[in-house]
Amino acid sequence: MNVAIIGTGLMGRPMGERIMNANHRLIAYNRTPEKAKPLAFLGADVVSIPAEAIASSECVVLMLADAQAIRETLLQKDALGSVAESTVIQMGTISPEESITIQGEILRAGGDYFEAPVLGSIPQAEKGELIVMVGSTSEQFGRWSDLLRCFGPDPVLIGPVGHAAALKLALNQLIASLTAAFALSLNFLERKEIDLDLFMKILRKSALYAPMFDKKLERMIERDYANPNFPAKHLAKDIDLFLNEAKPLRLQTVGLEGVRQLVQMTLTRGWAETDYSALFQVISQGVG
Ligand SMILES: NC(=O)c1ccc[n+]([C@@H]2O[C@H](COP(=O)([O-])OP(=O)(O)OC[C@H]3O[C@@H](n4cnc5c(N)ncnc54)[C@H](OP(=O)(O)O)[C@@H]3O)[C@@H](O)[C@H]2O)c1
Repeated sequence: MNVAIIGTGLMGRPMGERIMNANHRLIAYNRTPEKAKPLAFLGADVVSIPAEAIASSECVVLMLADAQAIRETLLQKDALGSVAESTVIQMGTISPEESITIQGEILRAGGDYFEAPVLGSIPQAEKGELIVMVGSTSEQFGRWSDLLRCFGPDPVLIGPVGHAAALKLALNQLIASLTAAFALSLNFLERKEIDLDLFMKILRKSALYAPMFDKKLERMIERDYANPNFPAKHLAKDIDLFLNEAKPLRLQTVGLEGVRQLVQMTLTRGWAETDYSALFQVISQGVG
């Protein structure tokens, strides 16, 4: 198949590589052309406008930062004009409402659309071990499952467009809340000069343990937030998306609003582009 990818950032680059490993022809577009170069080196056709990628492919994988980025690439006049006959597979993290709106615009332009947001990060994207959650019809799911298996072994059909996006937001607010809680416990024990190895040994044996704690432990202890898997700015985006969706449901979200403040401080203090575990630093800097 001829498969286009728009967005070859941290996740899009390895996902593009997986598409090529499955013997599809890849046509790649990225706003900053340098970031598509590693894919060109592996044999992808890198193009300079989104419309060119769309016109020369049967389907378009979107791995862009947010809905605004989708608007500025796929939903521009030329690109939208070339989407007829093509299927757009939206894999970034956007809200259910945004996904449904974009679906409407693609359908009006004569194209097809579904969402397939992913859980997991760069290492899982490189190995094809992402958890792929699909918001589509069962017909679309059947038609595109093989391609989705480039990214993860068992794509799961969640429901119609919007449902997978909602599930993804529910997972990402957990990332934020768990990380904030873990970073607070670690900071507390450091100040109390209590052995962190002992803390981790007890935590690992308990029902409180989440594997992500160990994934972030070293970064936090070493204060090493460089080379992010998931930049803090995207976690901030996902918290806002979740809060916006939760508001009309009249859920009590004060807990997440507190975590939001922490993540916002992470951004304003200069760690927007670094790994989100940098929120450890904000807690460590304390108040006042
Ligand atoms: N990293 C993770 O662990 C992870 C895991 C699951 C889901 N996600 C989600 O997947 C999506 C991509 O994540 P990522 O980590 O790959 O992010 P990233 O490295 O920041 O890449 C973002 C991509 O969006 C493009 N972009 C941003 N704003 C744009 C605009 N206004 N116009 C055109 N292009 C624009 C960037 O182009 P430039 O290169 O020109 O900036 C880049 O290609 C996000 O929605 C994220 O929340 C990330």
